[in-house]
Amino acid sequence: MNDLPSNPGRKRAAILGAGGFVGSHLSLRLLERGWEIDGWDLDAHRLPQLHDFDGFRFHRSDLRDPAHLAAAVDAPLVVNLAALCQPARYVSQPRKTIEDNFGLSRDVALACLESKARLVQFSTSEVYGRTLASYLPEAPADDDGLWLLREDASPLILEPTSVHRWSYACSKQLVERFLMALAKEEGLEIAIVRPFNFLGPWMDFLPGRDGEGTPRVLASFLSALLDGRPFPLVDGGCNRRTFCSIHDATSALIALLERPEDTRGQVFNLGHPGNECDMRVLATELAASFARVTGDPSWNDHPMADISSLEFYGEGYGDSDRRVPCIAKARRLLGWEPVTDLPTILDEVSRWALSHYSQKGSRP
Ligand code: UGA
Repeated sequence: MNDLPSNPGRKRAAILGAGGFVGSHLSLRLLERGWEIDGWDLDAHRLPQLHDFDGFRFHRSDLRDPAHLAAAVDAPLVVNLAALCQPARYVSQPRKTIEDNFGLSRDVALACLESKARLVQFSTSEVYGRTLASYLPEAPADDDGLWLLREDASPLILEPTSVHRWSYACSKQLVERFLMALAKEEGLEIAIVRPFNFLGPWMDFLPGRDGEGTPRVLASFLSALLDGRPFPLVDGGCNRRTFCSIHDATSALIALLERPEDTRGQVFNLGHPGNECDMRVLATELAASFARVTGDPSWNDHPMADISSLEFYGEGYGDSDRRVPCIAKARRLLGWEPVTDLPTILDEVSRWALSHYSQKGSRP
């Protein structure tokens, strides 16, 4: 823990989960803008450059400890990013997924009520579940009411409770509802963010190199490339996502944090609707990016292998068929527009991964 005094003249925030992918990028951008940040996490390996800022204090702590939590919310603004967010774990550890994701966020919200902090809570695009269109195969594709996801209009469609995949989405939906209730009944000041597949350096981990288990798709594909295994395409890789640069995303988050009046009580989709593709195309684009940044076209020949979700994740996996955010509200209230296309995002990730993991292994 770094015990620098706080500076009363600067904007100050506590970032819970500062050591994670989003938390580390957001903390860096806020520090560059002169904010003072208290970062709370168990892990700091993504934060080496942050210790150069005199406004940064890192607290290595477990926020399930009530004393640590009370200290963490002693800030005018609390950003809660702490979450267990790998789909493989929603299926293998649904109880922990629910207890950690709902339980901790509930305790953070109650502590913010006590300390009178403004709370910006990270939820997930996964709360939308599946699209209406996925149940209506004959419906016209241009009817965007069946697939475009709007914060204040779209239904949240989760599968039966035996499909453990949705343990996370359901927990996050309950967190949102709990915060909405505290805002209505107790005056808690809140804003809620639903991220749509942010990509960038430092996302997740590569199994056997800097973590164990099954990461999200970008890290899974990077791992396959660097270890010379085929890209695993779950259920044929036909489900679709929209991918947003972490740098575009942090620009939106900064606007959100710096505009409390415009964002009070609101839920925001943050994503890039123009960067939509299925996982087979993502794999092709990532291989093409490796070919571009290394100058070696043979990366384009990297093999793919179809694998069933049952084999890849085990019993209880379900999936979002499509996730395209409506970002009209973020445009209107945050003045935000995502600008980075998928090849540019992937080139940054490829350069970073090739350099970051070069000591720990290389393409066979
Ligand atoms: C995850 C989280 O559950 C969301 O809460 C979060 O908002 C989202 O990531 C995010 O990054 O914003 P999801 O998009 O389903 O949701 O996560 P991935 O594990 O990255 O899966 C994306 C798609 O790739 C799925 O269809 C999955 O089946 C597929 N996949 C995954 C593969 O085809 N191969 C793999 O090796 C891994």
